[in-house]
Amino acid sequence: MRVVRTIAQMREALEYMRQGGHGPVGFVPTMGYLHEGHASLLRAAGEKSGTVVMSIFVNPLQFGPNEDFASYPRDEQRDLALAEREGADIVFIPSVEEMYPQPIRTGVSVSSLTTQLCGASRPGHFDGVTTVVSKLFNIVQPDYAFFGLKDAQQVAVLRRMVADLNMNVEIIACPIVREEDGLALSSRNVYLSAEERRQALVLSRSLREVRQALEDGKVRTVNEARELLVSVIAESPLAVIDYAEILTFPDLESLEGGSKLSAAGGEVIMALAVKFGRTRLIDNNVFIPKEAHALV
Ligand code: PAF
Repeated sequence: MRVVRTIAQMREALEYMRQGGHGPVGFVPTMGYLHEGHASLLRAAGEKSGTVVMSIFVNPLQFGPNEDFASYPRDEQRDLALAEREGADIVFIPSVEEMYPQPIRTGVSVSSLTTQLCGASRPGHFDGVTTVVSKLFNIVQPDYAFFGLKDAQQVAVLRRMVADLNMNVEIIACPIVREEDGLALSSRNVYLSAEERRQALVLSRSLREVRQALEDGKVRTVNEARELLVSVIAESPLAVIDYAEILTFPDLESLEGGSKLSAAGGEVIMALAVKFGRTRLIDNNVFIPKEAHALV
């Protein structure tokens, strides 16, 4: 495994792999502090590609002024050990100066998919993501890029960016990886106190309960499903809801509150952002509501 820190070295390493006929390039962009979710992306990349590139870059552009850029957890040695164990061939770890040597005057911005959910609570966040991912795609020129569905809105936004701008890369979305008790893995889980960690289970539980209520026909409309979602979360006194929404996926459009979920006519997303103390956690479930279940 090669560790490279400059764009020039990155391009050189890729040229070497290409000349050696190492097959398609699979890319896993990350902000480090890797966990089993990232490991699953590396494994998926390994299955589909001859060369696996991972980047570790905490991108200042996607953090708001009052967010956790400075304190975002970092552990390069542990990350490198995980990357090596999971089969990365090249790890790209640029500095902020390497990625942004001068104030950036050019940005990539996806409209409409970025104004709701995390886009509403984190203004400018997705512009930061699409801009850095475009830069990384230009540097790495991958055939495939792998992203976790925990950030489902990010997946929808990046897919749209790639389609709209004819980028020559296929976005591959990988399932959410959870702890045994249901908590979705996140680098930010380390911020949680023991009690917050316990109460944070309400995210996955509320999603499961609404799915079950829909299956059982106890809940049918969008409003009923949203109300159940909110009421389950409210059972945890430390939980402060940022959003709890049900939208179409991947277009992230609103659904008529009184309409049956099964009338959405395709995939929907139940998406949550909930704060526990200073830690904001997200979780979601993407599924196709089935008429048969809604009619029970
Ligand atoms: O999902 C992330 O970790 C980041 O948003 C990404 C895609 C690496 C861009 O900085």
